[in-house]
Amino acid sequence: MTKAASAVRTNLISSSSSWIWIPAPTTVRKSASIALQNLNMPVYCITGTNRGIGLEFVRQLAQSADNTIIAAVRSLSSDLSDLQAAVSPSTHILECDTSKVSSIHSFAKAAARILRDGKKIDFLINNAGVNITSHQSSLSLGPDELHTQISINVIGPAKVVEFLLDAGLLSKDVRVLNLTSGLGSMQRSSEIKPRKCAGYSISKAGLNMLTVHQSEDLKAQLPGAVVISMDPGWVKTRLGGEGAMLEASESVGNMLGVLHRLKPEDNGSFLHHSGDKIPW
Ligand SMILES: NC(=O)c1ccc[n+]([C@@H]2O[C@H](COP(=O)([O-])OP(=O)(O)OC[C@H]3O[C@@H](n4cnc5c(N)ncnc54)[C@H](OP(=O)(O)O)[C@@H]3O)[C@@H](O)[C@H]2O)c1
Repeated sequence: MTKAASAVRTNLISSSSSWIWIPAPTTVRKSASIALQNLNMPVYCITGTNRGIGLEFVRQLAQSADNTIIAAVRSLSSDLSDLQAAVSPSTHILECDTSKVSSIHSFAKAAARILRDGKKIDFLINNAGVNITSHQSSLSLGPDELHTQISINVIGPAKVVEFLLDAGLLSKDVRVLNLTSGLGSMQRSSEIKPRKCAGYSISKAGLNMLTVHQSEDLKAQLPGAVVISMDPGWVKTRLGGEGAMLEASESVGNMLGVLHRLKPEDNGSFLHHSGDKIPW
């Protein structure tokens, strides 16, 4: 790919401190579609897209008509009005409740029907996640709540990758982004006093270990695959709260920049949305 085509494909500009995703101007998009005719138009698959960070991923990616987007939601019966307002004609909204193995299985089958023209997923963003017990400490963990968080934050992303791989839907150079948290870092958590969100923190540490395993296991089957854990920062969403530091647009713009620049040697990394490495 030429440098120009690469820049157009990823719609990236450099700011002083980071890379920011911007929608390509219409004129550039038009010429890009000619220049990219022989290239695969990228396919993105994102879980948990009806609100928060997942919705913002769809909103930014839908700016380019070149992107095919599989936008997964926990339930098609939920209020999806914000998502419907953000989508492009090449966005497909599918149900995927990542707390249920059967739902993830059905999701993979539905995705296969959409991608039956031989297209494969180039970017898989395991975004769906919950923090349901921020008040519980390690001395008051509720087993049911911890199980729910591990089910959605760890088992869900594991099964999404497994079933999409089994269905033959992951491209040979697939980039898998597991949305984790700085609270999933042993080192970062050990520096926070008092400690925060024990159950969530434990589940995100589990997700980080999943990344370590997936990065090797997936590469054994798809040699170009890159799997990373990424911390989106503290973002203003229902989960992050109003007092958070970042707008979703800034966090997601940064994450897309990092995602599009991933190299084979980044496989198995834990990265901040700025692109900096985070200690495990
Ligand atoms: N915001 C932050 O500051 C922050 C910081 C670090 C990491 N993160 C991570 O970033 C990701 C997105 O968080 P967010 O801030 O956007 O949270 P959010 O606003 O609470 O949104 C969470 C999303 O996950 C979906 N979800 C929850 N349970 C699901 C399930 N069982 N199946 C499918 N989807 C499910 C929700 O769908 P419903 O509306 O249908 O429940 C919603 O779309 C999470 O993995 C989170 O841990 C966020």
